[in-house]
Amino acid sequence: MKKILAGPYSQSYPNLVRIKSGVVSVWTDILSGKFAIWTAKRWLRTVYRDTPVPLEKALSLRSTTQCKNALLPPGWMVRTSGRSLRNRFLASQLADVELGTWRLAASTLNLLECQVRHLKPQIVLEFGSGVSTACLARYMQELHGDSDRVYVFSIEQDASFAEETTQLLEALQLDKNVRIIHAPLQPQVIEGIQTTCYNLPIGFLKTVLGNYCPGLVMIDGPAAESNARFGTLPLVRRFLAPKAWFFLDDALRDEELEVAQLWKRLRYIRINGVYLNGKGLLVGQVA
Ligand SMILES: C[S@@+](CC[C@H](N)C(=O)[O-])C[C@H]1O[C@@H](n2cnc3c(N)ncnc32)[C@H](O)[C@@H]1O
Repeated sequence: MKKILAGPYSQSYPNLVRIKSGVVSVWTDILSGKFAIWTAKRWLRTVYRDTPVPLEKALSLRSTTQCKNALLPPGWMVRTSGRSLRNRFLASQLADVELGTWRLAASTLNLLECQVRHLKPQIVLEFGSGVSTACLARYMQELHGDSDRVYVFSIEQDASFAEETTQLLEALQLDKNVRIIHAPLQPQVIEGIQTTCYNLPIGFLKTVLGNYCPGLVMIDGPAAESNARFGTLPLVRRFLAPKAWFFLDDALRDEELEVAQLWKRLRYIRINGVYLNGKGLLVGQVA
């Protein structure tokens, strides 16, 4: 099987540039007060270890400064390559693929791999396709066996990204286990909130999901205006398995912290907390 070279991380990103931008960013952060947040985050990580930090604690830390995205680590801290993946197959196949910028961070994918093994979902539903789709498909294949069953449904707003993901899945021979659903974005009112989200009418979801009831939802899209990810869970909730687990990436970003607070108001969403890995991973369950 050929190695995947999407996003030639090692060739096009000289290490010196990374180190320099890292040093500049560290100084900017120290001066802007983010350093205190880093220290508090380290402490929370020590206290909570492998469990998610309660949302209230994250929000109270967030409220200590006016800095935008104060809890979010700088880009250079989460940017790695596929080599950092714990899964051996993926680490070798995606060795030169950049992770952590637009894509999920390697530490987030590693955490998700553990969660898939632990929670054992029959079906995964993803919002925002890409390298993560291939990773989720591989985790599910390793959990349930190499069959022709569909393990992952991935909702994608952009036809060209859907095509790119399909090609990656084909190269890794994971395409038989994934169904990519192209759903363009549309302004709509969801749970009384004016937002932009995937166009997913109930009849359409019934047709594409059939009798499949996802037990784990990974939310890394859409890419749109603020709070766009709010609509994802309300749109699909009636199709999920009972007490389905959900994970929201970029959870340490201000927008996603706001989405978490909006979700908290909905009676059918329970939030367990935030993992401080990568860009933050909010975890909870849909009743
Ligand atoms: C955060 S990305 C999803 C990344 C994916 N979950 C992964 O880990 O590979 C959310 C959406 O942004 C769009 N997107 C992906 N990469 C992009 C890029 N480099 N520039 C602009 N949009 C991008 C795609 O439509 C994607 O569904």
